[in-house]
Amino acid sequence: MEDINKKLIEKREEALLGGGQARIDSQHKKGKLTARERITLLLDENSFQEMGMFVEHRSQDFGLDKQKYPGDGVVTGYGTIHGRPIYVFSQDFTVLGGSLSETYAEKICKIMDLAMKSQTPIIGLNDSGGARIQEGVVSLAGYADIFYRNTKASGVIPQLSVIMGPCAGGAVYSPALTDFVFMVEDTSYMFVTGPNVVKTVTHEEVTSEDLGGAKAHAEKSGVNHFTSPNDVTVLKEVRDLMTYLPQNWQSLAPHKKNFKFDSKKLETISSILPENNNMPYDIREVIDQVIDDESFREVHKDFATNIVVGFARIEGRTIGVVANQPISLAGVLDIDSSRKGARFVRFCDAFNIPLLTFEDVPGFLPGTDQEWNGIIAHGAKLLYAFSEATVPRVTVITRKAYGGAFDVMNSKNIGADFNFAWPTAEIAVMGAKGAAEIIFRREIAAAADPVAKLTEKEAEYAEMFANPYRAAERGIIDDVIKPSETRSRVANAFKILENKKEELPMKKHGNIPM
Ligand code: HXC
Repeated sequence: MEDINKKLIEKREEALLGGGQARIDSQHKKGKLTARERITLLLDENSFQEMGMFVEHRSQDFGLDKQKYPGDGVVTGYGTIHGRPIYVFSQDFTVLGGSLSETYAEKICKIMDLAMKSQTPIIGLNDSGGARIQEGVVSLAGYADIFYRNTKASGVIPQLSVIMGPCAGGAVYSPALTDFVFMVEDTSYMFVTGPNVVKTVTHEEVTSEDLGGAKAHAEKSGVNHFTSPNDVTVLKEVRDLMTYLPQNWQSLAPHKKNFKFDSKKLETISSILPENNNMPYDIREVIDQVIDDESFREVHKDFATNIVVGFARIEGRTIGVVANQPISLAGVLDIDSSRKGARFVRFCDAFNIPLLTFEDVPGFLPGTDQEWNGIIAHGAKLLYAFSEATVPRVTVITRKAYGGAFDVMNSKNIGADFNFAWPTAEIAVMGAKGAAEIIFRREIAAAADPVAKLTEKEAEYAEMFANPYRAAERGIIDDVIKPSETRSRVANAFKILENKKEELPMKKHGNIPM
């Protein structure tokens, strides 16, 4: 018996070493942790249960028969985060560069299937040189098996991807199919084709970091939702985000009963908006004064900054916040902000997270760039996402709500449940000056002093429409509220909507404009 146990202990020790001490040291030298160290930080202490520790690849080609490592380059299993179950895989760069083989893919698919059957979230820690080149097409098929499962799991269980090293070629499509991508500064990158191929094909010279580093994907492509300085901080952020998410599409996010709210904040909320309605202010100040203290987790912080999205809590319950941001491009809607908003709204709707919208939008961004790149289709995504959302939906109009953008931003007529406006709201087809120039064009042209006439007509239009009362008279908004009443009105709205049930018409699936 002792001998048998000894063999098991030896085999375990061998597996724990992955590709060997020298490669572990090299991983550490790059500022990266090993696959197992990462799992230890991600999960609750001693909660990890490994599966497939002794799996080996079956390949005989190119000398692979002599390079076998127990576990074959990916550590898989399950554990808990803040006491809630979670499946995890962690790619081990010390084994053949974390490259994906047929058996490696099978290990990942096995836990993806279990995650689906048990309706439990899955987190992938990515650090891999891509397809195991020696294995050829079976490795590609393995990727396809994972993509297929990512797609089937979409909207059923939360799927998170953490990029902690290379992630290149078709391998990028697994993270891209998941709900949120986290990237580590300096040590992670993602691209479909690397700098060498880029140089050959387009003659552009670009570094890996500039092409596909955390910053590039956070600011330019929007592929990266969260950037973190190192392995330790990113795993902390993942643990934190999980506290806002439910286990699956049929459950609710955890209720944080010991929430805090400093009611002194309500005294200053009225002073956030500048006197001049064309001056900017930071919508995050408004958000902070309405939600539970320190509960805002901004998503996509550096991408399309003219819209702010993120998770927060009101009276301990998770909500998703979508808000126009006046300090960036005056908060207009454009292609990227529409894409960003739409994806976030759809995540929240898929996972029973109520939506709170703060609206201060002067319209859509004009220009050939926007039109030729499809603002019509992209803007329609946000409209579609809000329209099909069946979770509780509340909107607060703080200032401008102009034109088509007013309709898009979770308006009453596209199914929002409660729409409130501050007394400073201006709900109109367009700004008073533009409106006066169009509808009083002849009168202004014929006037002895056209500038004075324009000013007079602008004031006339503003008096009529640059306020919330016209919309309130028609029931297009439900109430005009003082800024200091916002938290209590929003909290009450979500409370009364707690049992909201709304079904979409029967269909195979909708056809969101892509
Ligand atoms: C097999 C690989 C490998 C791979 C790396 N290794 N990538 N083995 N298949 N794809 C091995 C190396 O031979 C080396 O083995 C060890 O991993 C560490 O690699 P290094 O090159 O020493 O590390 P580093 O300098 O950090 O460079 C990392 C790297 C580089 C940038 C990822 O290894 C690289 O460019 N690899 C190839 C990437 C690639 O072209 N992959 C295929 C992409 S196409 P030893 O024994 O020396 O330690 C693809 C298609 C997916 O993935 C399609 C899905 C649809």
